[in-house]
Amino acid sequence: MALETASVEATFSALKDRLDGVVPDFELSHKAALAFEINQIKQERGAVILGHNYMEPALYHSVCDFHGDSLELSRIAATTESNPIVFCGVRFMGETAKILNPDRTVLLPADRAGCSLAESITAEDVRRLRDRYPGIPVVAYINTYADVKAEVDICCTSGNAKQVVESLECEQVIFLPDEYLAANVANETGKQIIYPSLRPISSSKRESASDIGLQYDLIGWKGRCEVHEKFTVQDILDVREQFPDVMVLAHPECSPEVVKASDFSGSTGAMIKHVKESETTRYLLLTECSMGDNIAAESGDKEMLRLCSVRCPHMNEITLENVLIALKENRQEIHVPEEISRRARSAIQKMLEIG
Ligand code: 13P
Ligand code: SF4
Repeated sequence: MALETASVEATFSALKDRLDGVVPDFELSHKAALAFEINQIKQERGAVILGHNYMEPALYHSVCDFHGDSLELSRIAATTESNPIVFCGVRFMGETAKILNPDRTVLLPADRAGCSLAESITAEDVRRLRDRYPGIPVVAYINTYADVKAEVDICCTSGNAKQVVESLECEQVIFLPDEYLAANVANETGKQIIYPSLRPISSSKRESASDIGLQYDLIGWKGRCEVHEKFTVQDILDVREQFPDVMVLAHPECSPEVVKASDFSGSTGAMIKHVKESETTRYLLLTECSMGDNIAAESGDKEMLRLCSVRCPHMNEITLENVLIALKENRQEIHVPEEISRRARSAIQKMLEIG
């Protein structure tokens, strides 16, 4: 949580307590000065800083009032009284905060902070799918932009995708846009996934889905996370060979083969909880590398192996320098057109009601 300290020196020593052995002192002293200034301005302005679990360790451990995965941060954003909300995450997360709490100013401390999943689908794509599969409910992963959310029935995150799909009690569900998350949900629910061809689906093809005894199909889309798609089963085998006692945790944006070869799969929040509650001493995290540093700082007795050649360039746009500029200059303020916001809010709120 955010450090409440009276000077740069005190911020440095509090950060060193948390990050000794993870971040070298010379870097900590530079970051402590930035963090101290940010925390002062934040207090003066009555702001709140929300930080996704992927934030770099010095930022994560010094200025964030709340940490979490997409679902946890959405819930906090929906109810916070503070203003502005500085969202240390990617753009679709800042948009979700603005949609859920439209009277607040939401600031994203980066010029772009995109996401390969959010960019893989457009509102027009969703409208075309609805035309092709009339009457079938559409679930959108939270990693989509507001105009896409405005076209769907309900949202989900990696923390509740299975519950959201099951809550619909439908024989077929359109699940967008993450190819791998959809396949992992299909595996968890024992259903089959199909990916639509560009041609309209024929009635005979529909019949063949029910002919093979499916309660429902998930109809997917070929979006992928540019980080998680890079992890392979061979990576897991190689690490297991060197460290036979390792526990492997994979985010469900990884391929189904990688998830199957792992010991645990869940949202970033679920992965953190699993490590904290587990007795194992060595872990491999198949997700953005900063999260391993953040867990290592809190659980010094646990060794975190992580594959840091694979990074999320979008999450890494958020730096302490950018947070300071955002707070000083109200940058980059997130705006969502009212009509899109109203329809997207309904899809996100339905998800939050599922619990
Ligand atoms: P979580 O909701 O699990 O934090 O995932 C967000 C994300 O973008 C993972 O790449
Ligand atoms: Fe998007 Fe992947 Fe980055 Fe998450 S890790 S924000 S899904 S690109």
